[in-house]
Parts: sequence; C-alpha cells; structure tokens
Amino acid sequence: MAFDPVQILSERFGAAIARAFPDAAAGGAPDALLKPTQNPKFGDFQCNAAMPLAKAVGRPPREVAQAIIDAAAADADLGAIVEPLSAASIAGPGFINIALRSDALAGLLAKFDTPALGIEPPATPQTIVVDLCGVNLAKQMHVGHLRAVVIGDALARTFERIGHRVIRQNHVGDWGLPIAMVTARLLEMQRAGRDIAALDLDAIEKLYRAAQKEADADERGLAAARKYGLGPKALAELEEQVAGAGESLARAKATLVALQNHDPETFAVWQRIADVTMRECLAVCARLGANVTAEHSAGESSYAEELAPMVDELVRRGIAEESDGALVIRNEGIEEPTIIRKSAKGGGGFLYATTDIAAIRRRVQKLGADRVIYCVDARQALHFRQVFASATRAGFATRPGAGAPSRLEHAAFGMVLGPDNRPFKTRTGENVKLSDLLDEAEERAAAAVREKNPDLPPDEARAVSTAVAMAAIKYVDLSNDRAKDYVFSFDRMLAFEGNTGPYLLYALVRIRSIFRRAAERGGAGDAWRRAPVVVGGREEKDLALALLRYPGAVRSVAESLEPHRLCQYLFELAQTFSVFVTNCHVLNAETDALRDSRLRLCDITQRVMADGLSMLGIRPLDRM
Ligand code: ARG
Repeated sequence: MAFDPVQILSERFGAAIARAFPDAAAGGAPDALLKPTQNPKFGDFQCNAAMPLAKAVGRPPREVAQAIIDAAAADADLGAIVEPLSAASIAGPGFINIALRSDALAGLLAKFDTPALGIEPPATPQTIVVDLCGVNLAKQMHVGHLRAVVIGDALARTFERIGHRVIRQNHVGDWGLPIAMVTARLLEMQRAGRDIAALDLDAIEKLYRAAQKEADADERGLAAARKYGLGPKALAELEEQVAGAGESLARAKATLVALQNHDPETFAVWQRIADVTMRECLAVCARLGANVTAEHSAGESSYAEELAPMVDELVRRGIAEESDGALVIRNEGIEEPTIIRKSAKGGGGFLYATTDIAAIRRRVQKLGADRVIYCVDARQALHFRQVFASATRAGFATRPGAGAPSRLEHAAFGMVLGPDNRPFKTRTGENVKLSDLLDEAEERAAAAVREKNPDLPPDEARAVSTAVAMAAIKYVDLSNDRAKDYVFSFDRMLAFEGNTGPYLLYALVRIRSIFRRAAERGGAGDAWRRAPVVVGGREEKDLALALLRYPGAVRSVAESLEPHRLCQYLFELAQTFSVFVTNCHVLNAETDALRDSRLRLCDITQRVMADGLSMLGIRPLDRM
C-alpha cells in the first residue's frame, strides 16, 4: 500500500486529470503539479495543474480546476484522506487547495507502525549481485577503496532490507602479470634464503612497486632518448635498463605460466601474498562495519581457467574477431573495441575485460542474478560499457530460460579529493592508506566525544568515539552525490551540526533519552505503544508527513542506486523531529493522551532513523 500522502495525492489527482481531460493524458500520466501550500489557512497542499492545462485545452483555468475537482470527487481513495473539495477549494487563477483529513495521517501512521515500517517485501524477490571492494593483491587499501566498500555495502544492505537476495562479490585483482611480477620477486627472495613469511603488506607493496618500476623502466625513456637524439652513452645505458626490464618481464611471464600450471612452490608464494593482502583488507572492512568477508571473495584468479575456452567460443560464434593480431569484440555505439586477448607480440594474455565478461556469465548464469551492480570508480565507465555490451551480445547476461537480459549497472562513483581539490594524497604524494585515515578519524572523534561528554566512562568513551568516527567517514561518503567527487575534510564530517553522521547519531540518542527519562519518571508505562496518534499541530503534521515518506525514500535508493537520497531523507527527518520536540512537550504534554501520542511519534521516528542508518551500515548508539 502507499503510505506517503504526497504520493497518494499526486497519483490520485493525476488520475482525476486524466479522466477529466483524456487527451492531455495521451502522453502518459499527467503531472498533478502538487506543492505544499505557503499558508496553512489554504490547507496543506495545492494542485497547480489547471493553469498549464487551461492553455493546452483552451478553456478558462478556473473551469479546468472545477473539472478536475469533479473528477476527483468520484475517487474514494482520495476522499479517505482529504477534506471534501468544492468550488471554494479553487483559489486565485485556478489553484486547487487541498487539506488532509486530520484522521487520515493518524490512520496512515497506525498502519505504518509495524516492524516493516512501510517497506513491503517484493512480490518476486530478485537475486542481486553487488560487486564491491575490488582490492588488488600486494597493495594496501587506499582512500579510493572507501567508496567501493561503503557504497557497495549500503546498496547491498538496502536490497537485503527490502527483501531481495543479495550476493556480494569482491572481484579481487589477484591475477595477471603485475601479480606474477611480485610473486617472482618473492620467489627469488625465498630461494635466496630470505624468510618471506615475515613480510607484511607494506613490505610486499614496496616490492610490488619496485618490480613494476623495473618492468616499465624505460621503454618510454628509450623512445624519448631516440627522439631527442641523446648521446650514445645515455642510449646505451637506457638500452641496458630496458634489457633488464625485458628480463624481469620474461621472468614474470614465466611465473604466470607456473602459476597457471599450479606449480606448488610458485603457488605457495602467491597464496602467501593473497593471505597477507586479504587479512588486512578484510580487517579494514570489519573496522568499517562493512559486511565484506572471505566468503565474498571471488578474485580474478577464480576465472583463470574459464578464459581460454570462453574466448575460443566467442571466436567460434563470430562475436570476437582478429584485429592486428589481437582478439576484439566490436560493439555498436561504443567508440573502442573491447580487447579480450592481446596479440602474440603483446604477450597473448587475457585482459581485465576478459575476466569481467566471464564474471558476468558466472553471476547471471550460475548465481542467477536478475541485477548485477558494480560499485566501481567512474573512471572505469568505458570498461563497463564495453563489458556489458560484449557479455550481453554473447548471451552471457541472460539467465537460462529468461526472455530478456538481466540488468547490468555501473554504480559509478567520483573521486575523494584533498583540500587542494586534487585526488587525495599524502604530503609526499602517495595514496592515503585507508587504515591510517581510520586511525586519524578515531583520534579526532575521541577528542570531540571527550569534549561533548567528559563524564563517559573510558570504555564507553572509546566505543562511542569509534562509532562516531566510522559513522562520520561512511556518512560523508554516502551523503555526497555518488557520481560526483567530494573534498575530504575531517572537521566537516566530524561536526555534530549539519548533514553529518555524528549529527544523525546524536539526534537518535536524543530521542532515545526521552524514553530513558520516561522510564525514570515512571507513569508512562508502555501503554503509549497502542495509543491513538493525534496529529494536531503543524509540527506533528510535518513529522507525520516526513515519517510516511520513508518507504518512498528507500525505494528511490534501490532504483537509482544513490544512497545519498536516504541520507538526505534522514537528515530532513532529524530536522523535522527537532522542530517538533522544540515546540511540542512530550513528557510534559498537556494531557496523558497527548503525551502517549507523542511518545509513539518519538518511537516511530527513532525506529525509522535506526532502520535507515542500518541500511547505510551505521550502527546507532544509545548514549554518547
Ligand atoms: N580491482 C579493480 C581495480 O582496482 C576493481 C575491480 C572492480 N570490479 C570489477 N568487476 N571489475 O580497479
């Protein structure tokens, strides 16, 4: 059922317009142009559709308004929530003033007040794969991974809450030449008698960078040297370097082959790198309170065996073709062909896209996905367009027996920027390690919590500041428009005022404290749980309307894949609530009936807030 009166009014007035002016409805349901009224004496909402419609049909607007009212009068659903409409409802040039019936909001709220909070399970639950995290072996998680974890986890939680079946997939970059390169390095060290078990991720990452540098050493430098006519000595030195690079590249290729053949010694070293990386990665996810665990890992290596037969099939079916010795898929409307195998000269290897095409096949055809959602950096937009088009064309995106392909969506996110508006880096120009960022957030949150509440016992203070820090970091990431870049600022995200995680946590704590005070005083009992809700004054009405918007806000996140819509909703709810408690006494209400009604409003509000925060992956607190 629909809970939001605004939605009900829009739909019912749209339908009334369509009945009164069938021609106007030809292009789809007409927009009722519903707006809140500026002045409560004109009711709660107004329908402004008569004016543009009058132009279109060539009749006076007030007459058009009357025709809409006549059509609306026949609608029982509408009659259940609005005061009777009449000629007196028409104002000015043709506004239709609408007043909600005072019992209607109370009735809707009573129906809303169940554990489901208006979120009804889908008629046919879907299987939704959420691709999130996506770390790479031998590298620390950096600030860029924050979004892939936090947004992915929030979307997954939202779908779970709605009642879909969610499968999280951590597409770990754990295969290919770069990984083979660092594996080769460690292997060498091991053979030279070094104890590689002692290497932590920082050490492994250093080796990775060194290996990479050596490999791309200076093909580019050499080209430049020739171009700018450097002397023979410089050329000779560079050539030597490149030869070295060629050697290390050759070693990496051999290591990749050994890995592919499951050579035990090589494989054990690779496994070691994977273990060290994943231990740290999953620890950071756990710290963030994100549900990303070992069971969600489905790394690129898990597709390695499938690639050659898949590529052969694509060639056989005429989907992939040769181009300069490489194999490519050309898709209409996409500017660049998708390369799925390099030319023999280029090493003949498979690519990032090849694995992602295989992943779509597994996710749709084996895991049964109706929807696959990729929480990945916006800079990979072309990659996903290519991969989606290629997999769809190959039929890999269609479930066996299904008529149409599943929905493949790139929930692309923008970058995290530093104060200089450039990609967030450390002072020395390196990527910011995510765990360092979390450490700093915790330190700063501890100071803020100490200042706000010096009396918290130390253990609780620690727990509260950890929760505040994580809420701050996650909320900032979620509340910014997903597709846009945002500037990272500890001061802003940790503020207890404004659209921040700490503000919402605090707003919720304040509501909960009302119930603690009620319990201390005794008297209120919990009879209020069944008390009739009285929606009397403006503040109560606004709060009721805000609460009833909740299911719509959640639906819009599931549709748009934009968690910031839920953040915005929760922020507005918290503000509306704050106006309500400032103006309406709850425990000191004029009558017991009013107190109980308001306690029930408080309770629904705190449950909506806790439920909403849980979808964002933010754990609410009782005290702070
Ligand atoms: N490892 C990749 C990277 O760091 C992200 C993986 C995203 N997921 C995917 N299915 N491609 O860019």
